[in-house]
Amino acid sequence: MSTVVLVGAQWGDEGKGKLTDYLAEKADVIVRYQGGNNAGHTVVAGGREFKLHLVPSGILHPGKVCVIGNGVVIDPEVLRRELESLTADGRRLAALYISERAHVIMPYHRLCDELEEDCPDGLRRLGTTRRGIGPVYTDKYAREGFRVVDLLEEGAAAALKSMAWRKAEVLRRMHGVDGPEPEQVARDYLAYAEFLRPYVRDTSLLVHEAARAGKNILFEGAQGTLLDIDHGTYPYVTSSNPTAGGAAVGAGVGPRVIDTVVGVTKAYTTRVGEGPFPTELTDETGELLREAGREFGTTTGRPRRCGWLDAVILRYAARVNGLDYLAVTKLDVLRGLPALRICRAYRYRGREISDFPARLSVLAECEPVYEELPGWTEDVTGVRTYDGLPPAARGYLARLAKLTGVPVGLVSVGPGREQTIVLAKFFKKARRGF
Ligand code: GDP
Ligand code: IMO
Ligand code: MG
Repeated sequence: MSTVVLVGAQWGDEGKGKLTDYLAEKADVIVRYQGGNNAGHTVVAGGREFKLHLVPSGILHPGKVCVIGNGVVIDPEVLRRELESLTADGRRLAALYISERAHVIMPYHRLCDELEEDCPDGLRRLGTTRRGIGPVYTDKYAREGFRVVDLLEEGAAAALKSMAWRKAEVLRRMHGVDGPEPEQVARDYLAYAEFLRPYVRDTSLLVHEAARAGKNILFEGAQGTLLDIDHGTYPYVTSSNPTAGGAAVGAGVGPRVIDTVVGVTKAYTTRVGEGPFPTELTDETGELLREAGREFGTTTGRPRRCGWLDAVILRYAARVNGLDYLAVTKLDVLRGLPALRICRAYRYRGREISDFPARLSVLAECEPVYEELPGWTEDVTGVRTYDGLPPAARGYLARLAKLTGVPVGLVSVGPGREQTIVLAKFFKKARRGF
């Protein structure tokens, strides 16, 4: 058996979707373990681009099993549309199963997310994806949520109406707006229950049995380490645990099921939404990265903020995820820059710090301490071996590995499935299969 967790090592959008699709060929089961349709995972296969939000990025591999785990939050309408568009031209897909314990996004969650973001004083503005993610996780922990299996209960209609009525009351008092109409909520979600019913399983059992049978399991992270509710740049984070520990909780298996943890990082850094970003480039180099890397959000279309690679962040990601390997994506985007920079430490009030701080006021004052490395002019999008990369590109990757203490296992040189370089040592740790 080999089980791999692919986790975002930065602020999301590192290329997890592309690498999940690539590794899915060697996997038997592909599991999303947290987040919801705040995620936007791009897969380019057969010359077509697919933007996936809820469905695991292994879905384009018929014969495989895809799982939406208990840690994921599901907007049933989004899932319905996503499956519809994937099957529109008769494409064969992987089998899909949904955890009976996954929580469901309700219309009042989306509305609350919008209202908080648009609050006139701007105090609550985090730059969320407005998909209802914060409010649905809030309700989960407040024990006011609906799990998929709750929608299938006999008393579901009454429970839905009563909760929608309560939420409408809160919305009226707090925001002076009308919430979704309770009768309508109950009708819509009973219909969604019927749509979901054939996919619903005890997916913890499914993943457990696959592990026991020696199958290869790939856990597909969404978001990234710095968006983690515990380990990220709080409060500019999402409301769940994208980090590797979240894979065990969000899939319903023990932590020892996991063999290998891979941290996906771009060859530079990006972030969408608000919050501090020490290596951000607001000059023409930042603009160049945005254009060359097509750095516009998959989910919201927002331009992504761009900056140099930050080894302080990656060392932190290595620690809180227990990274075995780095997977470096978008190496091709750096082509043509005369010199490249990697931040090796921060300078805070005249003193060097090498560990990522918890206090945002400290982070906001941190100046990056850079190392400069030579760039390259060669197009690397057609390169398929590590040795085929220009010496400066290899030097850049080697320095990154040294600064983070984590070996590079995978390198991506373009959005396509085939534009992936697997280093021999990656196979060694990720044993059979991967
Ligand atoms: P995810 O959220 O981590 O799955 O990443 P996104 O799909 O949101 O953003 C990554 C973007 O980069 C997508 O448009 C991918 O098609 C693209 N991409 C992934 N890997 C590479 C790469 O190595 N080179 C280039 N040029 N683009 C890539
Ligand atoms: P993938 O899986 C990048 C960011 C939002 C916002 C913060 C909170 O594609 O890497 P939320 O809607 O989750 O309450 O928003 O988190 N965010 C992401 N940024 N990639 C993502 O997912 C993200 N999911 C959420 O921009 O700053
Ligand atoms: Mg994305």
